[in-house]
Amino acid sequence: MQVRLAVVGLGNVGRRFLELVQQKHSLIQKRFDLDLVVTAAGDTSGGAEYFSGLDVAKILELKRSGKGVAAYSQHGRGEMTMVDVVRSCHADVLVENTLTNLTDGEPGLSTMREAIARKMHIATANKGPLVLAYQDLFARAEKQNVKILHSATVAGGLPVVNIGRRDLGASEITKFEGIVNGTTNHILDAMARGEAYESALQHMQELGIAEADPTLDVDGWDAANKLVIIANACLRRPTTLKDLRVQGIRDVTPKDLQDAQAKGQVIKLVARAVKQGDNYELSVKPEWLDASHPLASVHGGYMGVLYESDINGQIFATIREENPYPTAAAVLRDVINIYQ
Ligand SMILES: NC(=O)c1ccc[n+]([C@@H]2O[C@H](COP(=O)([O-])OP(=O)(O)OC[C@H]3O[C@@H](n4cnc5c(N)ncnc54)[C@H](OP(=O)(O)O)[C@@H]3O)[C@@H](O)[C@H]2O)c1
Repeated sequence: MQVRLAVVGLGNVGRRFLELVQQKHSLIQKRFDLDLVVTAAGDTSGGAEYFSGLDVAKILELKRSGKGVAAYSQHGRGEMTMVDVVRSCHADVLVENTLTNLTDGEPGLSTMREAIARKMHIATANKGPLVLAYQDLFARAEKQNVKILHSATVAGGLPVVNIGRRDLGASEITKFEGIVNGTTNHILDAMARGEAYESALQHMQELGIAEADPTLDVDGWDAANKLVIIANACLRRPTTLKDLRVQGIRDVTPKDLQDAQAKGQVIKLVARAVKQGDNYELSVKPEWLDASHPLASVHGGYMGVLYESDINGQIFATIREENPYPTAAAVLRDVINIYQ
């Protein structure tokens, strides 16, 4: 079966996704009988479309040489928004990996709405539209009978959403705990080794692990966004950021970490959901965990989650993610899962 893809957003994740489509094409065809063809692509330069399929190597070469897809010979066009790309392309799946914008969700939100209206499925790593409009997007998708898979939006390659939504589908999730922000986990680790917060942050920025503007990470909002997605997708509760208590790591001192160590404990930024009656108490905050707690072993470079449920017991999953390939691979697995 041929599956036509419109790949929008060609940065760290989008480019790796295209590489994986190239690399895994025949394996996916053999295992799943899916022939993945990229019929459209888009970035800030505009778009490129060809109903018979664009040459993925050519797109990657354009990006490597610093050009946008608008420069794609014959089929590229500048001055196109991503909504224009979706409107005019022939594709079955929108693969949306533009930047996460938490102010208005754009350009991802409008692009996704347009794709749903055109009965396209969606695979995305982009948190913004889901955090701001999860219920709206899924209601539209249900009406149009299309799927939105977003397993890459929480902890990249770690299948947190798949475990909670699909694998615990018949369970009541009684508790979720997660270390879902790599940057703060790195910083807390460095501070536990005695480094001051400012210098640990600066070091992470030099290594390209922390953003120049670290607010989203260190104030807990990135983890909070992921918890909103988990609450909607896995706990099946309509949830927005307003429903969470959020505290970041700015006030944690090296002395706090050393005091914790002296008591056989560690301090981690934990995204937590605890079932209380019919609802969940949701928080993101630095927490003292016993060294025996599974998340205590999740150090810098790793992320990890723990689910507790009524009939599936306790599930602990962790990932080491040093580059965007696992995230791109998660988007690829979503494309495949749309057709399973
Ligand atoms: N990096 C990771 O490991 C990771 C992990 C989990 C989730 N995510 C999420 O995945 C998404 C992509 O991340 P990334 O690291 O690949 O980001 P990135 O490197 O900044 O790439 C963003 C892409 O979006 C395009 N873009 C930005 N604004 C646009 C607009 N108005 N119209 C069209 N295209 C636009 C950019 O175009 P140009 O190429 O022309 O600049 C670029 O190709 C984000 O939502 C991120 O939160 C990333």
